[in-house]
Amino acid sequence: MVLGILFTVLVLLILFFLWVAAYDGNRFVTTEYTIREERLPKDVTIAFLTDLHDHAYGQDNERLLNAINTLSPDLILVGGDMINARRRHFSKKTTDFQNSLKLLQALSARYPVYHGDGNHEYRAFENGAVYRGLWDAYKNALKETDIHYLRNETCVLNGLNIAVTGFSMDLDYYRKFRERKFPEGYMDSLIGKRKNDCFHILLAHNPEYFPEYVGWDPDLVLSGHVHGGVMRLPRIGGVIAPSFRIFPHYDGGLFEEYGHRMILGRGLGMHSIPIRIFNPGELVCIRLHSGKNKPAGPDAGTGDTDVSGGRSVPETSDTDPSDKGRRI
Ligand SMILES: [Fe+2]
Repeated sequence: MVLGILFTVLVLLILFFLWVAAYDGNRFVTTEYTIREERLPKDVTIAFLTDLHDHAYGQDNERLLNAINTLSPDLILVGGDMINARRRHFSKKTTDFQNSLKLLQALSARYPVYHGDGNHEYRAFENGAVYRGLWDAYKNALKETDIHYLRNETCVLNGLNIAVTGFSMDLDYYRKFRERKFPEGYMDSLIGKRKNDCFHILLAHNPEYFPEYVGWDPDLVLSGHVHGGVMRLPRIGGVIAPSFRIFPHYDGGLFEEYGHRMILGRGLGMHSIPIRIFNPGELVCIRLHSGKNKPAGPDAGTGDTDVSGGRSVPETSDTDPSDKGRRI
């Protein structure tokens, strides 16, 4: 009798989590942050997407594209891992990025797009033979667009006083169960010094190295990789990182530490652990307000470079409005 009840509860729990995984794996929220920055000559809206892993929200990623268009961004920043570099799937060498590519093509026809490396792009680049030309196929497809690919490169955005650097660290720093510090001068050797006269954004895929990034002194770090911790628990946050770190400190959201700030996107797709539980995909919107136009409302900052916000809203208005503002 007792065993029968326990078995029934277990089956119901499994069914519930399967339903949540299927539901959260096919939806996303938009999280907005507001940053007031006196060095900017005008207001700038950035749409930041990361870790799509070739996932599709509707035909040709139409739902995601619509949500980005609704934000009216001035530019798009991509945090990497748009492709899937998987050895066991290398026979699909030209199909592991088609959904991402269609989205990026549509975005680049309308907005400036700056694309940084994730570990998937970088390892496909470093191991061309192992992944059977995946990187070359992706690179050649992107060449047909106006996308700026920033692999240890910097772009200064004319008229905006913003610089964007894509930082690609050695794959050794992504190894599981292992922490390494950067050697002295490591970031400078790859990307040079930051531009002091600009608001300088660092696209750095792996958030675990945020304490190292601050030594380079970026104004804002944009990161991804952790997928929100795969499953999110109330008050605790993400459960597991790709490095298999349990309850990772850097799991998603805004981090202000060491006098610097990082916005860590929870990602839009799935990979190593192909589920999302209580953890829908996330599109990040960053509203940079020039000091001349103080933003109104509850998100308004109070200092010269204040940052605030972090409220997530669901993709469609038919979702329970109580979801707004909740961080799970
Ligand atoms: Fe990643």
